[in-house]
Amino acid sequence: MVAKLKEIYRGKAKTMYETDNPKALYCEFRNDISAFNAEKLANLDRKGLINNHFNAFIMQHLENEGVETHFIEKVGETASLVKKLKMFPLECVVRNLSAGSLCKRLGIEKNQPLNPPVFEFFYKNDKLGDPLINESHIITFKWATAEEIAQMKALTFRVNEILSKLFKVNDLLLADYKLEFGLFEGRIILADEFTPDGCRIWDAKTLEIFDKDRFRQDLGNVVESYELVARRLQIPLK
Ligand code: ADP
Ligand code: TMP
Repeated sequence: MVAKLKEIYRGKAKTMYETDNPKALYCEFRNDISAFNAEKLANLDRKGLINNHFNAFIMQHLENEGVETHFIEKVGETASLVKKLKMFPLECVVRNLSAGSLCKRLGIEKNQPLNPPVFEFFYKNDKLGDPLINESHIITFKWATAEEIAQMKALTFRVNEILSKLFKVNDLLLADYKLEFGLFEGRIILADEFTPDGCRIWDAKTLEIFDKDRFRQDLGNVVESYELVARRLQIPLK
């Protein structure tokens, strides 16, 4: 059994702790939810538990399909053990259907299929509101090398193939999502989380929203919708 030691980072939705293994972190999924760069905050019963199980299932599915992730194992209802990485300060976003900031920024109609899918980098910096950046910024400011950029893009698109298929067979559309990567023993591996907090998931027939947009848009039943997606994906929950 792993020992949870000092808190090293408290983010908007998760808290990371050191453990007695210097290469591993204890990652606690909290019930906190935030939107619009933390201007809108709430605490939603059961969200931490559902996201922990959701994330574990997706990370294990990706591992089974050959994508290396930081996930080691669940260590409780709301926590998992992960490899400790040196994170890139980047967010990799893929969009299969138009929504969110893409529509606002470029005046694109909502819910349009994007072929090929759009890839965007954002700079992970809360003070600046996570601005959209390009590869030139990343190289000039040394956030990652050209080779690392290429690898992160390839991995993000590989995840898209795997997860779009998984969602589709369960009558769900993966409209868009955000991934984060880090370095572990010289390799780039998938980190952070994959949960309805960081992606857009719609019913394939009705386009009903089942992700954090329910919170952003005050649609209600936020956690119930996360749970509905989990059940459709046959994720075991308490
Ligand atoms: P935020 O920092 O955006 O508020 P969270 O509440 O999700 O987000 O906090 C989790 C933090 O831990 C994020 O900053 C994320 O980049 C970082 N992180 C995720 N996975 C790892 C990992 N395997 N090793 C080190 N840091 C990680
Ligand atoms: P956006 O439309 O707000 O740019 O977001 C695109 C997708 O990426 C959406 O599913 C939410 C996710 N995302 C995050 O979870 N965190 C972020 O900081 C960003 C920029 C996007």
